[in-house]
Amino acid sequence: MDMIDRYGRRIRYLRLSVTDRCNLRCRYCMPAEGVRKRHQREILSYEELYRVAAEAVDLGIDKIRLTGGEPLVRKGIVEFSEKLARLPGLKELVLTTNGLLLAEMAAPLRRAGIKRLNISLDSLKPGTFASITRGGELQRVLDGIEAAMAAGFPPPKINMVVMAGINDDELLDFARLTLDRAFTVRFIEYMPNLQEPDWEKQSIPGSELLDRIVREYRLLPIVSSETAGPARNYRIAGAAGALGFITPISGHFCGSCNRIRVSSVGMAHGCLFAGASLDLKPALRSGDRGELRRVLHDIVTDKPVGHTLQQDEDDRRAFAMSGIGG
Ligand code: GTP
Ligand code: 5AD
Ligand code: SF4
Repeated sequence: MDMIDRYGRRIRYLRLSVTDRCNLRCRYCMPAEGVRKRHQREILSYEELYRVAAEAVDLGIDKIRLTGGEPLVRKGIVEFSEKLARLPGLKELVLTTNGLLLAEMAAPLRRAGIKRLNISLDSLKPGTFASITRGGELQRVLDGIEAAMAAGFPPPKINMVVMAGINDDELLDFARLTLDRAFTVRFIEYMPNLQEPDWEKQSIPGSELLDRIVREYRLLPIVSSETAGPARNYRIAGAAGALGFITPISGHFCGSCNRIRVSSVGMAHGCLFAGASLDLKPALRSGDRGELRRVLHDIVTDKPVGHTLQQDEDDRRAFAMSGIGG
């Protein structure tokens, strides 16, 4: 079965957030004091998350990305992944992580059936990394990346949120990571989910990032496959890996968006920034399967045409990205 929204987009990708907790406090993601601790009742159990996933796959989803907060801090994630990976009809189970726990968990996650990892990494300098993440230890992430490769994962996608004056001096260092190893480094425009008053000063357009790299290296475009996501990809001539540019602000990719999201508290979102969210909990907790399908279907039908991040909107509210999984 195919789920097609009213703008003709085929929705086949679910981002499933298993927790809003995190072992870091990245500046662009969470307020310094962290987020309110949810009561356990509010959080979907693994059994409920599984029912959401199973229904979504039955409706036409064939790729699930597990997200957080940080998905690896939730106890039982390996066992849950193992069960999910066996879901008939699911072609791809992948996960986005900050990498801190990968040194211990990469091998079990690989055995559980996770196909690929995306790893957030915003600086290669220990001091800058600690400052952006409010206390994170860079070496643990680097060890985590090595552990992922040793466990047999394909070279991960590395997500760098580029912030002017904070880490944009490291652009070329990140680009160079792809010369000898087949990493895909993605440069992401900083998005104003926390509604900082001066956010525009920090967000650098992808075109400018591209220009800066092109001054140093010859880039060849790579054509991406339908499920490849929001990045425009290039390869430095002769490099082993690739570079991606994710430009939600300057040139958004909403026209080809193929995804929906479900948060760890059971809210389904058609878009990261725009439109209504629908609560799956009543259907889950009453055991009404038809209602669960209807709500998932509605979120697809009502998926907004796109977000309006470039325009001023008085009614937009700040939210922690950790609550929805990016
Ligand atoms: P793959 O393409 O499957 O590798 O994943 P991805 O790039 O969609 O996922 P990842 O979790 O690595 O997210 C990378 C960045 O893209 C994050 O900053 C996300 O917030 C951003 N992103 C992903 N999907 C969307 C989207 O639908 N809208 C917006 N505005 N940003 C998104
Ligand atoms: N702008 C851009 N990317 C963000 N992420 C989290 N918050 C933001 C933001 N404000 C990214 C993380 C992670 C992914 C899931 O979302 O760096 O790689
Ligand atoms: Fe945690 Fe990821 Fe948010 Fe950083 S961006 S605080 S690692 S959820």
